[in-house]
Amino acid sequence: MSPAPAARRLLATVRGAIQPTPPIWIMRQAGRYLPEYRELRSRAGGFLELCYTPDLATEVTLQPVRRFDLDAAILFSDILVVPDALGQEVRFETGEGPLLTPLSAASIGALRPERVLERLAPVLETVRRVRAALPDDKTLIGFCGSPWTVATYMLGGRGSPDQQAARLFALREPEAFARLMDILVDVSVDYLVAQFRAGADVVQLFESWALNLDETAFAERVIEPNRRIVAGVRRQLPDAPIIGFPRGAAGMIAAYAEATGVNVVGLDYATPLQFAAATLPAGLGVQGNLDPLRLVVGGRQMEERAREIVAAFRGRPHIFNLGHGIVPETPIAHVERLLEIVRGG
Ligand code: CP3
Repeated sequence: MSPAPAARRLLATVRGAIQPTPPIWIMRQAGRYLPEYRELRSRAGGFLELCYTPDLATEVTLQPVRRFDLDAAILFSDILVVPDALGQEVRFETGEGPLLTPLSAASIGALRPERVLERLAPVLETVRRVRAALPDDKTLIGFCGSPWTVATYMLGGRGSPDQQAARLFALREPEAFARLMDILVDVSVDYLVAQFRAGADVVQLFESWALNLDETAFAERVIEPNRRIVAGVRRQLPDAPIIGFPRGAAGMIAAYAEATGVNVVGLDYATPLQFAAATLPAGLGVQGNLDPLRLVVGGRQMEERAREIVAAFRGRPHIFNLGHGIVPETPIAHVERLLEIVRGG
């Protein structure tokens, strides 16, 4: 873990500081809405090759920070490099999103957790290069997918609106499912610790599919594995700063925050501001939560809501962000305007 110069505003906020204006980064900030990303991507070959080529991944990580002077860079990679490193077949088809050969109870035993860090060495090299190239006042965010979210892709073979394949598997094959979750918890701990050691200041746990779960399933599949990851990382790095993003946690958000011990909880855009302010403990940091489609449309629809979000979380540590990833249709000028607003314009 790198030292924490006071000037790293976003890192200081994760650690509990309240700033005059919230630091800001944008979920999926390196991506197809940027012409410089599209240009490099067209030269890079496959998406996974881009993730595993440190030169190119470093450049793509830095692009949005350079263009917008954001407060943080997020490592350019994907949550699905972990199944790939475990030996599952993962492909990214243009226009289709990720495609995996779905696991069965039997094939879980063929995963190769002992090889994960070796296979992810190029990603860790990207972390080192980004930290070396990044201005000292910028925070570097590492990440991994949370076990349930990664498992939905590993078991379903693709993204799905309701994660039915994984939800059925978890109920029908509880032992095999628990084995898969144990593997994902253990490799995630090692991978995040390695990212910190390579120069990440903060890591984010992306639980993008925390929705569609009853409270028992939420406790078992979301809260408990994320709690184990936070505890496992902190056994090796006691003060490790961690942001948790349980998208769709709804009424379970306070239980998630309390049980996992994350420093900051990421709010999706459906989370009501006053509900979050009232249910989350006073000192706990929050991140979010503008609807990405307001950024597509811009103008009053974006500006008024952005100001409401800033106002709602004044008085607690707040990192401004979208409530989910930026979409490819987003005009650059709207991102520039959002930054002015968040920074007091
Ligand atoms: O945020 C960043 O700029 C860092 C890079 C990053 C990517 N994916 C790059 C990417 C991060 C943090 C992710 C996380 C990720 N990946 C999540 C969690 C966040 C979320 O949005 O919920 C998930 C669920 C994935 C899995 C994934 N990867 C999907 C569903 C897709 C296809 C949909 C899409 O957005 O295209 C990807 C591909 C992907 N990951 C792209 C990028 C830039 C687009 C691929 C391309 O350029 O062709």
